[in-house]
Amino acid sequence: MQVKKICCIGAGYVGGPTMSVIARQCPDIQITLVDMNAQRIAAWNDENLDNLPIYEPGLAEIVAEARGRNLFFSTAIREAIDEADMIFISVNTPTKNYGKGKGMAADLKFIELCARQIAEVARTDKIVVEKSTLPVRTAAALKSILHHTDSGVNFHILSNPEFLAEGTAVQDLLNPDRVLIGGEEPEAVEALANIYARWVSRDRILTTNLWSSELSKLTANAFLAQRVSSINAISELCEKTGANVEEVAKAIGMDSRIGPKFLKASVGFGGSCFQKDILNLVYIARSYNLHEVADYWEQVIIMNDHQKQRFADRIVQTLFNTVSGKRIAILGWAFKKDTNDTRESAAIYVADHLLNEQANIAAYDPKVPAEKVFMDLDQLNSRPAEENKQQVSVYGDPYEACKDAHAIAILTEWDEFKTYDWARIKAGMNKPAFIFDGRKLLQRRELEALGFQYYAIGE
Ligand code: UDX
Ligand code: ADP
Repeated sequence: MQVKKICCIGAGYVGGPTMSVIARQCPDIQITLVDMNAQRIAAWNDENLDNLPIYEPGLAEIVAEARGRNLFFSTAIREAIDEADMIFISVNTPTKNYGKGKGMAADLKFIELCARQIAEVARTDKIVVEKSTLPVRTAAALKSILHHTDSGVNFHILSNPEFLAEGTAVQDLLNPDRVLIGGEEPEAVEALANIYARWVSRDRILTTNLWSSELSKLTANAFLAQRVSSINAISELCEKTGANVEEVAKAIGMDSRIGPKFLKASVGFGGSCFQKDILNLVYIARSYNLHEVADYWEQVIIMNDHQKQRFADRIVQTLFNTVSGKRIAILGWAFKKDTNDTRESAAIYVADHLLNEQANIAAYDPKVPAEKVFMDLDQLNSRPAEENKQQVSVYGDPYEACKDAHAIAILTEWDEFKTYDWARIKAGMNKPAFIFDGRKLLQRRELEALGFQYYAIGE
């Protein structure tokens, strides 16, 4: 099976960078990224690379090189499906917000829609690749939809979960720890492996059965999130005992069995994957009546929610038990640095808790526009949108956001925050001037020397 044309359905945080990198590494393969969101496609096609819908270091350069050569962005979904030998599905699979499994199970309606469209349009054999993170055994549903057409077309289904992390997506794609391909037909698996083998060494291309591949993705994210919740649990104990969480993380991380990565205590993990994937795991375990397994993993989420809540509570307590009418500057709205993605960002929940306490919020993020901040808050349905408009202002300049603030909360670890003129910021603030560092980004000694009251997670 030789792949000459690829179509990818879903031009988001996964589809966009993944296809751009494949296009760069395989100039002879024509790749069309399609999306039903015309505005998003227009942004991918924008001459001005600053307007690409996704911010990822290094991505704009790759798009500039490949776009129009062998990388195309289009809303013509049917045509792209028809022409392709291989179709990646990388549409969103949010947590269901209705019906059975509400708040837990993945909503697979977008995936199903893609499958139905492929089944309807395809006239030649296709390899269909699941790229989106999915619950285990989704491939069974895909198969069932695709194989019940009367067209005589053969579909080969593969699972090829994405392990890229936002903010480092391009590097992760160019130098992956491993590429995982799950499938039943060796020729189809080989066809996809051959694409990655152009730049990834064969010993890093792992092939498994479909269900192992699907479950490995959920498990990898659950383990990573569990590490963050574990160190966050310890951070609370540090604050009570006088231990320092950074010192503890360093001490345990030097044990080669534990390792140093993913031990950074924070205001809580965010992002589109961790919470969703664990909820999926919990839901699946419960559906097999594995309640101990479900409870075990659910605790990772409970700990994460607690961390966000207790960070907000700490601000309120420290500000003499009231933030009503006080201005709290929030630096960082994205769920981590080097991305404009805000899905499940801790900032949204911390801001929401503070708004419940009638605080005024002044937010600044280098890559997140004001509309996104309001959309995130409005989606929580905690209060009427007009109240969010009244209580929250979003600034394009960090010094403006911090002006007249009673406290600053650092919620994303953007590098630029370290370089600010903190003396200037303090001069413009209400006194005592408080900083709550949810990322342990700044240096306590320097800030205290400037006269700030400095609080950091895990100290
Ligand atoms: C994650 C997985 O890392 C990736 O392999 C998968 O494909 C998608 O999900 P992503 O969500 O993009 O990637 O970012 P990641 O770097 O994993 O961070 C997730 C969250 O955990 C962020 O909010 C981050 O700030 C937080 N985090 C991470 C910590 O709080 N402490 C850490 O030590 C590491
Ligand atoms: P991810 O982080 O998984 O990439 P995103 O939300 O960034 O998630 O991207 C998913 C994209 O998939 C969105 O741009 C959405 O418009 C697109 N999409 C969802 N369903 C379909 C569909 N049936 N056909 C085409 N595009 C779709």
